Amino acid sequence: MPDKLPFEFLFTPEFSRNPYAVYTPLRGQGPVFPIDFPPGFEAYLIIDHEHGRAALNDPRLSKDMQRFGDYFRAIATEDDILFDSNMLSVDPPDHTRLRRIVSKAFTPRRVEELRPRVQQITDELISSFDGGTAELLDEFAFPLPIIVICELLGVPADDRDLFREWSALLVNPTFEPEEVERRRAAARATTAYFRELSKERRAEPREDLISALVAMDELTEKELISTLSLLLIAGHETTVNLIGNGVLALLRNRDQLDLLRAKPELLPNAVEEFLRYDGPVERSTPRFAAEDLEIAGTRIPRGSMVHISIGAVGRDPSVHADPDTLDITRSDNRHMAFGHGIHFCLGAPLARMEGQIAIGTLLDRLPGLELGCTEEELSWRLTGSVVRGLSRLPVRF
Ligand code: HEM
Repeated sequence: MPDKLPFEFLFTPEFSRNPYAVYTPLRGQGPVFPIDFPPGFEAYLIIDHEHGRAALNDPRLSKDMQRFGDYFRAIATEDDILFDSNMLSVDPPDHTRLRRIVSKAFTPRRVEELRPRVQQITDELISSFDGGTAELLDEFAFPLPIIVICELLGVPADDRDLFREWSALLVNPTFEPEEVERRRAAARATTAYFRELSKERRAEPREDLISALVAMDELTEKELISTLSLLLIAGHETTVNLIGNGVLALLRNRDQLDLLRAKPELLPNAVEEFLRYDGPVERSTPRFAAEDLEIAGTRIPRGSMVHISIGAVGRDPSVHADPDTLDITRSDNRHMAFGHGIHFCLGAPLARMEGQIAIGTLLDRLPGLELGCTEEELSWRLTGSVVRGLSRLPVRF
């Protein structure tokens, strides 16, 4: 069995700058690593495609933190909406039921109908750039997906700064006591917000997803609030980084940028490559062993937490030729940036559409686009958690 990885390795500046380089030397030591997770939880990390794919769809690995996670008991609070009653936090048959209900409202048609609006918001945001420079995350990559998800759900987009703060706290749990307090406050605020809004939509329905879910009357209030929080958070914490990480990948690889400009029909393929090369979700959300099991010869006791490094899986050299090279013409791209199995991302069609429109339009409208800072000045969010993304991306054009 390989040595335990110290939990801190996920928080080093080296890791947040380039996790892939940190994983490369580990590959020879085995695909499954115990992690020294504080305070003494059994945790494991899988870094190869074969076992990662199998684990993402293994019914013995439960998403139900309330039943299996010591981890859950350490960080969650009684009012913790995210680890509660939404599809990403439960197993079948609840998962099947919750996903089916939300899928009825979140249809491919409803998503496709958003296309002109996504284009319009993109155009407006780019038109508001001023003076040949922009901070691409704050001025573009963040507002676009949050405006879209707010409009889809029926949440006032003016409230987006509130969500940004709440969701940053909810999505990156840490063990600091002060942080737990702030998380608890964010969870309470989000719950109160959605409780009020769903009451309003029940009284006066509109053409939005909250009204559609309320009208179905198939979710308990807790499930409704938990689901809305999941959609809001999943809908923007990720897509912002598809745009940010994708644009940075192009700016660092000018040959690929020129190729994409010359052949815009490669855009859908390029977005798949951005997802593989430096996707927004570095590791899957946690799973818990519902029984003792063995993965690639490593014994995993019941109750242990298991993470799949989606980032490392996307760079597995046994599946992807030249995995560290950005190649927007890559065929047979078997990335798992949207997960795999029953929890495969429900928002993938929306995220793909937003990523294609955002990056395609930026390249069209800003022919001189280039990085507005040095490599050393780039800073990554030190999440140590699931989401991977920059804290700022200054550009010139
Ligand atoms: C699930 C990635 C955008 C809604 C997931 C999972 C991943 C993922 C990896 C599975 C997690 C796991 O199994 O542990 C992404 C990426 C996105 C993105 C990379 C953007 C590029 C979105 C958007 C929405 C969304 C825009 C909705 C508005 C969901 C939901 C689930 C999910 C509801 C749970 C599905 C289930 O449990 O059945 N996403 N996501 N995602 N995502 Fe996304």
